[in-house]
Amino acid sequence: MHLKQLTQQYQQRVDRALEQLIDNTSDIADELHLAMHYSLFNGGKRVRPLLVYLTGRALSIPAEHQDAAACAVELIHCYSLVHDDMPAMDDDDLRRGKLTCHKQFSEATALLTGDALQTLAFETLSDNSYLDASLILPMIKVLAHASGAAGMAGGQAIDLAATGKNLSLEQLKVMHEHKTGALILASVKLGALCAKNTSIPDLEALENYAKNIGLSFQIKDDILDIESDTHTLGKQQGADISLNKATYPALLGLDGAKKMAQQCHQNALDSLSHFDQKADPLRWLSEYIITRDH
Ligand code: IPE
Ligand code: IPE
Ligand code: MG
Ligand code: MG
Ligand code: MG
Repeated sequence: MHLKQLTQQYQQRVDRALEQLIDNTSDIADELHLAMHYSLFNGGKRVRPLLVYLTGRALSIPAEHQDAAACAVELIHCYSLVHDDMPAMDDDDLRRGKLTCHKQFSEATALLTGDALQTLAFETLSDNSYLDASLILPMIKVLAHASGAAGMAGGQAIDLAATGKNLSLEQLKVMHEHKTGALILASVKLGALCAKNTSIPDLEALENYAKNIGLSFQIKDDILDIESDTHTLGKQQGADISLNKATYPALLGLDGAKKMAQQCHQNALDSLSHFDQKADPLRWLSEYIITRDH
């Protein structure tokens, strides 16, 4: 099977699972439920769930054991985007071409939507009937660490503090390692931690893979921001440039940034060298990340 088919298959799988989770909140509060649904189902690529499933595949872990982890990491991702778009942060009107949550609903609802998506992530992770509590506990810790001050939220804080400042390449890397890298790393770790018998060398190799694709994902994002024609879609596009934010192309030049993304891809492949063909989709994903056009 090719990456495209696998991607579709796992997108549908996680969408079904997310739909079920959200259904369980539907009798609570209409507006909050609508806003949660709106923010979860607005065309996200589901890259993080895909990473959970493909990691599980490489390790021969059944997909149903991974559904909770796949949903949990996407719930955190969607929550982070809802809050990221709010006026106090990036003040964006559009997300994935549609009105942002606070524009479609209200700021108060967007705040609560983020809160509710975040807590639903941990509820979901802890409510996995396929896995023993001894496996679930480390997974909760991994996701909490990756989401909080030492991970995504910390990265967002670094990002806010960095606006308008000149960052060095090292500072830029640290920011992205937290802001987006931490959740990408957590996706792979969660995938691997769904089984009792994942070896330490396998786990380390997968972590190294995740760090490299996390970095290449970000570099490619910066390159696409410059190269894509979609700048007219919303004020978020091109905003990095107008806000004078540090980016890889700005620091390394466009060619330098492309070389660095290619190097990360190579490192990611090298990390997986002792895995068999069951890890091929992870290899294809790394390639896709640096060749994608959106
Ligand atoms: C975009 O992430 C925002 C960042 C965290 C940098 P994705 O590109 O994975 O977003 P969606 O979910 O597919 O829209
Ligand atoms: C979003 O980063 C990162 C998180 C929500 C953790 P950005 O603010 O750079 O991404 P976009 O441009 O809004 O997708
Ligand atoms: Mg932001
Ligand atoms: Mg933003
Ligand atoms: Mg961006």
